[in-house]
Amino acid sequence: MKERGERFTMVTAYDATFAQLLDEAGVDMLLVGDSLGMVVQGRDSTLPVTVDEVIYHCRAVARGTRCAHIVGDMPFMSYQVSPVDALRNAGRFLAEGAAHSVKLEGGADMAPTIRRIVAAGIPVVGHVGLTPQSVHAMGGFRVQGRTAADAERVLADARAVEDAGAFAIVLEGIPLDLAQRITESLSIPTIGIGAGPHCDAQVLVCYDLLGLTPNLRPKFVKRYAEFYRDGVDAVRRYCDEVRGGEFPTKEYSFGGARKRRRKSPDGEQKPPLKVAGYGPVG
Ligand code: KIV
Repeated sequence: MKERGERFTMVTAYDATFAQLLDEAGVDMLLVGDSLGMVVQGRDSTLPVTVDEVIYHCRAVARGTRCAHIVGDMPFMSYQVSPVDALRNAGRFLAEGAAHSVKLEGGADMAPTIRRIVAAGIPVVGHVGLTPQSVHAMGGFRVQGRTAADAERVLADARAVEDAGAFAIVLEGIPLDLAQRITESLSIPTIGIGAGPHCDAQVLVCYDLLGLTPNLRPKFVKRYAEFYRDGVDAVRRYCDEVRGGEFPTKEYSFGGARKRRRKSPDGEQKPPLKVAGYGPVG
């Protein structure tokens, strides 16, 4: 796609229902991000997220996905200790989580690890610039590569990740002209988040994109819906209707006498149209 000049999309997903929605909308890649620690678990960083937790969410996402490529995000300390340890954990994302590739943060320092994982047949997405797992080393969630020297460091990191065999790279929280420079100098696609319009692809956290994070509004997030506001409104109406005795009406209730089962023309019994439990209707 990069060679053809076609942009593509990545969005985070953490469960089967959202995966189905995003997949149906045509998202190319679903990232089961360690951001789940913040948006699903309510933590204030991604650091406590474990391999088991991300794999659990990967499996759920895989069940809801028909077409998209699924990337499992390797959490803090699942790949930093040694390349062998990283390889063992990366394998679990494919074998247990049904992911198609893994993502890990870091530049030149992580090159031997990326090389090792790729050599075992596991596709890797890199991630440089603002790397949330290094939040304390960076002194907070700060834009990276703002000085000339720091921009050179981020560019060198991106090159090292490509040389190590990654098939794509996330550029997070860097100035747009630096992202353009990196995009033009790499042959693998760049996937931007807070990195401006010149990347080959873009990624957003699905909760941000859909307006599910009322207390968080980073500059780089465009909300395409207001799910939180609409959700509060819908649930308020439900509460009002239950309290006012308007829900459930007969339409949403079961009668006492069982209806006879419908018969097909050849006399064979057909199943009822609706099911009583939590399942498909129709
Ligand atoms: O965990 C995540 O959601 C990410 C994206 C922000 C790129 O790493």
